[in-house]
Amino acid sequence: MPEERTEQPHIVTCTAPVNIAVIKYWGKRNEDLILPINSSLSVTLHQDQLKTTTTVATSRSFQEDRIWLNGKEEDITHPRLQSCLREIRRLARKRRNVGDSGVDSASLSHKVHICSVNNFPTAAGLASSAAGFACLVYTLARVFGVEGELSGIARQGSGSACRSMYGGFVQWIMGNKEDGKDSLAQQVEPETHWPELRILVLVASAERKPVGSTSGMQTSVKTSCLLKHRAESVVPGRMVEMTEAIRKKDFAAFAELTMKDSNQFHATCLDTYPPIFYLNHVSQQIISLVHRYNKHYGETRVAYTFDAGPNAVIFTLQQHVPEFVHVVQHFFPPETNGADFIKGLPVNCASLSEELKQGIGLEPMPKGINYIISTKAGPGPCVVEDPTQQLLSSDGFPKKMM
Ligand code: DP6
Repeated sequence: MPEERTEQPHIVTCTAPVNIAVIKYWGKRNEDLILPINSSLSVTLHQDQLKTTTTVATSRSFQEDRIWLNGKEEDITHPRLQSCLREIRRLARKRRNVGDSGVDSASLSHKVHICSVNNFPTAAGLASSAAGFACLVYTLARVFGVEGELSGIARQGSGSACRSMYGGFVQWIMGNKEDGKDSLAQQVEPETHWPELRILVLVASAERKPVGSTSGMQTSVKTSCLLKHRAESVVPGRMVEMTEAIRKKDFAAFAELTMKDSNQFHATCLDTYPPIFYLNHVSQQIISLVHRYNKHYGETRVAYTFDAGPNAVIFTLQQHVPEFVHVVQHFFPPETNGADFIKGLPVNCASLSEELKQGIGLEPMPKGINYIISTKAGPGPCVVEDPTQQLLSSDGFPKKMM
């Protein structure tokens, strides 16, 4: 068809952040709508270090919806992608019908081309689906002129994605309605609330996780009575305590709850039948290191949390970052020293006392950690105005295959 590529597509590019849960989501009560068995709470990581970028183009000339992820075309018929596309189009149609749409009605029937990339390795196990679906939903909403609450749609892409729709400290309220309308994310505090808080992602392994979170949590819901106890009797109280610790910037309380909740999540994985192991010997060594470090100082200066993989995410305060990073570097001597080992926010030099090294008293584990990403809390999804940052060219096809 000669006129195929004559019409200029409508193109929008946005970015969205990764989040790390300090009260974990694990288990669904409804698989299709992605409704959780407990509320959860997370910190949104800064997009300067970790983000997904998504470009969406619509055009009358597109024959079908298509998606390219990290340079490769993927199957658009994936049910979770379809849920997000269907829900955004439904809201856009609703707005058009009440005459409230910023988008001309013709473009509602247009097909979309979606292109998305992460600025971090997908295989590193850094919650890429959360940033990915948050970015997809946010960008589609901009394209179709949909405004307002979008976390309920991002949730239908991946549960944890609903929390990536906001910056700072975010809770996902489980809700109790059958249709999931009240299962939404909400900002607890903005990213500016606790400027001293720092986050270190300790990338222990670039291998893919053995059991994905979707299937892992299904088996846990079916088999773990510890998970049932956790959801009903532990998490509700922890949500209140965690919100309070964050509000008061009480690091010791925040840190203790974070570590206990990570440990309980991994205990439910072990209570799953057959059991699921996400932590490896490097993760266990990091856990010991953190507890020994805190004990040495007689106060909680550092906390760890682990998701469905062996990478540790460390929370600490700015003043402790240089020393703790050097402690990690000492006990996990890297292959590449210096700049390559520490990425992200700059970390000052520090010297370690013999007393501290002996106080920790662990056997060094060479090459246990590949690298550290130093970051902090950051904002929610943003629109990218600079057209040179678009991933699709003016014809609506990927600019370059990576
Ligand atoms: C351990 O959101 O990836 O990271 O809803 O099936 O897509 P689906 O699962 P997902 O699970 C995340 C689990 C977790 C804890 C958390 O982020 O709260």
